[in-house]
Amino acid sequence: MRKALSLLALLALLAVASVALLGGCKDKGGDNAAATESGEIKIGVFLSLSGKNADFGKTTKNGIDLAVEEINASGGIGGKKIVLVSKDTRSKPEEAQTVAKALATADKVAVAIGSVESGQSIKAAPVFQEAGIPMVSPSSTNPDVTKQGDRIFRVCYLDDFQGQACAAFAFKDLGFKKAAIIFAQDDDYSKGLAEFFRSSFKALGGTIVEDVAFQGEVSEFKDQVSKIAAANPEVIFAPVYYGSIGLIARDFRKQGVKAPLLGGDGWESPQLIQLAGETLEGCYFGYHYDPDDKDEKVQGYLKAYKAKFNTEPNSLSALGYDAVYAIKKAIELGGGASSDQITEGLRKVVDFHGVTGTFSIDQNRNAKKPITMLKIGGTNLSKVKVIQPSDVK
Ligand code: PHE
Repeated sequence: MRKALSLLALLALLAVASVALLGGCKDKGGDNAAATESGEIKIGVFLSLSGKNADFGKTTKNGIDLAVEEINASGGIGGKKIVLVSKDTRSKPEEAQTVAKALATADKVAVAIGSVESGQSIKAAPVFQEAGIPMVSPSSTNPDVTKQGDRIFRVCYLDDFQGQACAAFAFKDLGFKKAAIIFAQDDDYSKGLAEFFRSSFKALGGTIVEDVAFQGEVSEFKDQVSKIAAANPEVIFAPVYYGSIGLIARDFRKQGVKAPLLGGDGWESPQLIQLAGETLEGCYFGYHYDPDDKDEKVQGYLKAYKAKFNTEPNSLSALGYDAVYAIKKAIELGGGASSDQITEGLRKVVDFHGVTGTFSIDQNRNAKKPITMLKIGGTNLSKVKVIQPSDVK
């Protein structure tokens, strides 16, 4: 008897629940004529989730996931939930192009977020441009990225500014007049940033005493390092990624070179110190946000990130987080979540208040933002200086 009753109660409950569910769906469809069939917003993500730059992809993805979770928990955007379709570029530019094709044609995403490495973004951008899908790079800084088409955007600063800022920091703040450069010839980011630093440092009155390039997968920098050591620089600019800088720094210290190394944003990784040991002690590199910022957005983000991932966020995760919220803003400004509406909306993003600062998307689909110079000391990174775009003009 008891059993029968509870079964009845259960059936009644199910009936009520299904009516509520059906009703809910009908309301949604009626309210929003532009709703896609599924009522979802598909965002494609392409990042290095494995391979030599896997830290870039993993930390960026955390920031993206956090933002999507927050947005969906608060009802989505215009009642639509975000669905992520993520692909691993395996740290390879060609693979970025391959997965971009899959996201554009098979998955038919409305908008794409990626990649971190400029070389990958430059390869993937034409695919999205051709498919009429907007792409937002969270952190690719090479100027050529957004030149690939009028649907290609970014939410970070550019390497012409980053190169100028690093040169001014070395020359004016640290007082060095003789610099050497070591860079990866076959990497768009490294080659470009080396060039911007080189011309800016010379324009300030400094001398580049040695300039060496390497190519491909290098694990031994002995020869490049001895060339630079012989020129006796006061500072060494190394615009490379985190996987190489530890090896480079070790070879410099092995050959007795004590000059500090200076890098761009590419050194960033939770493993940086572990990979470099003490060899990067007293060295500097650029960063995309200021975690000490008392702004409530920054502090709220830090708290939410730590609660979800049980670890400290970095600037890549902050940029991934901001990329998602910039897309949300674009959907609101563009009046909907089709690829065309998001493209239109992204062009209208002005004074966007993100975790990585307040910025606008300019007519070249770029953002102007400050760079934070960090100093490595022990296992800590400390802020030395925030350089504004207007400081280097
Ligand atoms: N700016 C680098 C590039 O364009 C990518 C990067 C950004 C790496 C931020 C680390 C941190 O290739």
